[in-house]
Amino acid sequence: MKKEQVLFKTMKQNNIRGVLEKHQVVPVVTINNEAEIDGIINGLIAKGIYCIEVTLRTPYALTAIELIKAKYSNQISVGVGTVVSKEQIEAVKALKVDFIVSPGINAELGGYLMESGIPFIPGVATPSDIILGMQMGWDTFKFFPANLFGGIDALKTYGQVFPSVIFCPTGGINGDTYASYLDLKNVISVGGSWMMK
Ligand code: 3PG
Repeated sequence: MKKEQVLFKTMKQNNIRGVLEKHQVVPVVTINNEAEIDGIINGLIAKGIYCIEVTLRTPYALTAIELIKAKYSNQISVGVGTVVSKEQIEAVKALKVDFIVSPGINAELGGYLMESGIPFIPGVATPSDIILGMQMGWDTFKFFPANLFGGIDALKTYGQVFPSVIFCPTGGINGDTYASYLDLKNVISVGGSWMMK
C-alpha cells in the first residue's frame, strides 16, 4: 500500500477499521458489579472473542472498564458503548479505551470523537444519517437498531447507494442470523448481546 493511502486510512475515525477488521463479533455487554467481570471476560475468551463493548448504561460501567483494562488489556480489546456526550468521551479518554461506539450520529460530538484520537464508530439508521457521516469524512458506521431498520435488506440497498461505506450492524442479531450479516460485503463486524445469553 502506498504511503498516502495508509495515511488516508488511518485518519478516518482514528482507524476504527483497523480495530473492527480484527473482531468479526463485537459483544455489547452491560456490567453491574465487579463480581461479574471475570466470568464475562473468560466466557468471551472461551468462545474465541477477544473484544468487548462495555455500555455506559450502569453507574458501574466506568469502573468496570478500568478494571478490565488493568487485568485483561493484553488479551482483549476494551471498547465503550452507548457514548452520547462530551463528558463521557472525556471520561473514557482518561481510561484509554481501545474504541468508542455511539448509538447515533451528531456533528458536534463527532468533533470531540475525532479529537479524542480513539477509534470510534457512530450509529446510523437512515440514508440521511449516512450522508451526515460522509460529510464528516467518515465511512464506517454502526447500523443500529439493525433489526428495526430493515436488517439485511436495508444493508443490501445501502451497499448500492453508498458503495464506499461499511457497517457493523447491531440490534436484534442472534446466533442464527449473525453469519448472514457477516456474509454481506459491506459488513465488517456484527455487534450484539446474543453470545452473552
Ligand atoms: C446495542 O446497544 O448495541 C444493543 O443493545 C445490542 O443489541 P442486542 O442486545 O439486541 O444484541
